[in-house]
Amino acid sequence: MFASLFAITLGKIINTCCTTVRSSQTLLGKPQLSGPSEALVKDIIDFTCEVQSQLKNESILLKGHREKPLGFYTSMHGEPGIIPFVIKPSHEGDLECVARPQNVSTIEPTVSSTHNLRVVEPVDNAQIIILSDPKKVFEGQSLKLRCHLQAGNHVSYKWLLNDRLISPSPGVNLSNGHLLIERTTSEHSGSYKCEASNKFNKTVFTAVSPEVEITVTDLVSAPDISFTVSKESAHIYSAVVTCQSTKGTPPITFSLYNNENLVATMTSDDRNAIFKVPLVLDQHLGYLKCAANNTNQTVYGHWLPLDVVSVGGRVRIHLDTDVAENFAVIGVRLYCEVERGSHARYQWFLNHTLLHQRGSFYYVVNQRPEQSILLLAVERHSAGTYHCEASNSFDNTTVISSSRLYLDKKVLNHVPVLVAAVIFGCFTLLILLISICCGIALSRLLLQDVTEYNEDDGVMETDSGDELDRNSCGQ
Ligand SMILES: *[C@@H]1O[C@H](CO)[C@@H](O)[C@H](O)[C@H]1NC(C)=O
Ligand SMILES: *[C@@H]1O[C@H](CO)[C@@H](O)[C@H](O)[C@H]1NC(C)=O
Ligand SMILES: *[C@@H]1O[C@H](CO)[C@@H](O)[C@H](O)[C@H]1NC(C)=O
Ligand SMILES: *[C@@H]1O[C@H](CO)[C@@H](O)[C@H](O)[C@H]1NC(C)=O
Ligand SMILES: *[C@@H]1O[C@H](CO)[C@@H](O)[C@H](O)[C@H]1NC(C)=O
Repeated sequence: MFASLFAITLGKIINTCCTTVRSSQTLLGKPQLSGPSEALVKDIIDFTCEVQSQLKNESILLKGHREKPLGFYTSMHGEPGIIPFVIKPSHEGDLECVARPQNVSTIEPTVSSTHNLRVVEPVDNAQIIILSDPKKVFEGQSLKLRCHLQAGNHVSYKWLLNDRLISPSPGVNLSNGHLLIERTTSEHSGSYKCEASNKFNKTVFTAVSPEVEITVTDLVSAPDISFTVSKESAHIYSAVVTCQSTKGTPPITFSLYNNENLVATMTSDDRNAIFKVPLVLDQHLGYLKCAANNTNQTVYGHWLPLDVVSVGGRVRIHLDTDVAENFAVIGVRLYCEVERGSHARYQWFLNHTLLHQRGSFYYVVNQRPEQSILLLAVERHSAGTYHCEASNSFDNTTVISSSRLYLDKKVLNHVPVLVAAVIFGCFTLLILLISICCGIALSRLLLQDVTEYNEDDGVMETDSGDELDRNSCGQ
């Protein structure tokens, strides 16, 4: 009896509870929220919240992101609530509306499905901020720029260097309005711009920053040193020293040292500098070295002795031949060498006529202070008397002549005999080595052979009158 009473009471309670829930569902339906999915900042947009209700008096609350209330409406007769509001960037996100019956506390409020709103704020006033410092960037350092906007969201960025689009690549990172170049070179110098843009309903908004000039200074490479001799007047000479770097962004400050003493300093808008240093011939005047600097560090070149030896001693001429398979001489190489002379210059003569760099039957292939080589084809035109002369490249007062060398086909055709003999000699040597143990006597015989060839050097024929070197100083 008691138990059944309890059961009925419990049943009533459950029934009341369930009826309340059911009535809230039927009396107050789920609201429907409608409005645009995308809006522009500062626009005034109407959102509509409609609720099926038998209660008539409900308050409708529109809530934004993070429960932020955006507007109220009191629906007296079940009419849809139209809630206008001014769009701000913070309104972006999920919106929902809540319907709450007025003064009927027993009925629970109902909530709409969420409605996503994208808020677009047009980009405005782009500006580049240099994050890496200083503004002067040295090769190898990083460059970091940011595109700062006064306004704008949902932005995509482009970076331009000298009006050309920068694409991401290894060492060049573009992300979220930042540009990072990890290791700069002078190729990254130029004027930078950033372009920010966003889009609302097919309208594209763009903001381009003012240009920012960035200079990347390439570090100067160790300078090379060289000098030429210049004759200022009789017996007065100077060394014209060139310090030259292959890379580096000007301006570059070059310094010239003699031993450890600074001789001169010069700032150049080029990658080289020229210094003039007094010079005394045939005297060691120390060692020169160039230094270069275009940043905060100085690089040094190698030492070069300041020694100018004027031409002197004998000028020697000798000959070498190219032989065809049939042992006929087809080409001749004449060598000319002066005993002393750091700046020697050579001239070749045939029958006292100066030969230039190149002719129909000859070619001067090597012109160094140590040696000059004249290549000759063996033909009718190349017959005659050859000699060479050496002088200082910086003045012509000293000219030293070599002995004379007569060449024609007949003279040259002595050569095959010699060559044949040499080849035969080698062959003999080989046989001797392979055969029975080579006796001392045999070796001596062989030595004798070699000596004979040297003596029988029938190729050189010198004019007897000009056999001695002619030294015509102070002409
Ligand atoms: C609705 O509210 C008005 C005024 O606030 C009141 O006069 C009316 O009786 C209410 N109706 C219901 C059904 O509560
Ligand atoms: C409902 O409540 C509000 C305040 O909560 C009050 O101003 C209004 O008069 C009440 N309406 C009825 C019908 O009780
Ligand atoms: C986009 O523009 C078109 C035509 O200009 C307009 O009909 C449409 O309502 C716009 N959409 C939004 C979301 O503003
Ligand atoms: C040089 O002189 C020789 C005679 O000594 C002559 O046979 C030869 O043709 C001359 N060569 C030239 C190029 O004049
Ligand atoms: C030396 O002579 C050559 C040709 O004879 C000439 O080209 C050169 O300019 C002269 N050099 C000097 C320093 O006089």
